[in-house]
Amino acid sequence: MKGNFPIEKFKTLQTPFYYYDVELLQRTLEVVKEEAGKYDYHVHYAVKANANPRILHIIAASGLGADCVSGGEIQASLDAGFPADKIVFAGVGKADWEINLGLDNDIFCFNVESAAELEVINELAAAKGKIAAVALRVNPEVDANTHAKITTGMKENKFGINLGQLNGVIDELVDMDHVKLIGLHFHIGSQITDMSSFQNLAIRCNEIQDDLEARGLTVENLNFGGGLGIDYYHPNHLPVAAFDNYFAVIHNLLQLRPGQKVHFEPGRSVVGQCGNLISKVLYVKRGETKNFAILDAGFTELIRPAMYDSYHRIENLTSEGEIEVYDVVGPICESSDVFGKDVELNTARRGDLIAFRSAGAYGEIMASQYNCRKLPQSYFSDTL
Ligand code: LLP
Repeated sequence: MKGNFPIEKFKTLQTPFYYYDVELLQRTLEVVKEEAGKYDYHVHYAVKANANPRILHIIAASGLGADCVSGGEIQASLDAGFPADKIVFAGVGKADWEINLGLDNDIFCFNVESAAELEVINELAAAKGKIAAVALRVNPEVDANTHAKITTGMKENKFGINLGQLNGVIDELVDMDHVKLIGLHFHIGSQITDMSSFQNLAIRCNEIQDDLEARGLTVENLNFGGGLGIDYYHPNHLPVAAFDNYFAVIHNLLQLRPGQKVHFEPGRSVVGQCGNLISKVLYVKRGETKNFAILDAGFTELIRPAMYDSYHRIENLTSEGEIEVYDVVGPICESSDVFGKDVELNTARRGDLIAFRSAGAYGEIMASQYNCRKLPQSYFSDTL
């Protein structure tokens, strides 16, 4: 089954472009709010997944907070209407101007990834006569069972403070006058479909809380980051991620202390399924061993297959011809510019429209201008 697209309208537009199903995004946001609402969980959308201004505006209007990893993302979030007191700011390499932007806007929390960063935040806050609210990002050593390039919670990853060093960093923190510890932050990886990883995270958090309590410390906020995966194989059947399961898994295992608030930072699961990259077949090259469908989109528009070997469902929207097998490739002058090998497509002809499904997260935002190409346009189902 192919997706339901306004193909006649698509034929009038310059390809490649991103097409967003606004109704699906709204529906997803409703589910997020309903499921998180059951436990009073706070959700901050991970802006890095998609910072298209219209998408950000819709998400801000739905009442979610924002999870940012740069000054640019903080500014884009403020511009889109996210309230500063719902903005969290993570990242291993926050530059001074980025920290200052967060301080000037009194954002909710800095998710701090090292003792060195903590010192700088303390200094910059002191210069402004402010007290920065910080959460320590702990590397929980929980395996996310996902692609190595999107695993973050293991000792060898650059992110967070190692468990064995947490007490030492807290010792330094309590002596600083311009930072205040308000929470713990975790993020173990992305595209996680194995719920046992989140179970292990909740259990590890309980252990850490017990250790902190032994030294007379409880924090007000626990932030479990993002990572909930989506179904790239069945975008039509399972368009909304398993938020019910996800929040329930944490709820069932986490031992909350009185008054503690729980936060999440989902990105992919919020926007992944509502976005599609639409491209056109330029040429069909019938080689000696392979057929190539050569498209006008390349890794400049969607880098995930080249970078992470990721699967995206590919559909020929304008052909009902017999199913044939193609290597689907882009025009970029690099042999990694391949979207999929041995892909089954309805017979491809020059001019056919091709959809890459589930491309709403880490699609448009990771586009580049390599080969002096133009950045893709975006269109929305409700305004097309
Ligand atoms: N919070 C933090 C601290 C993160 O580093 C990330 C993602 C998220 C939240 C959101 O994770 P999500 O819910 O989207 O899984 N470009 C890669 C994914 C990189 C994810 C980086 N961090 C891809 O296309 O698969």
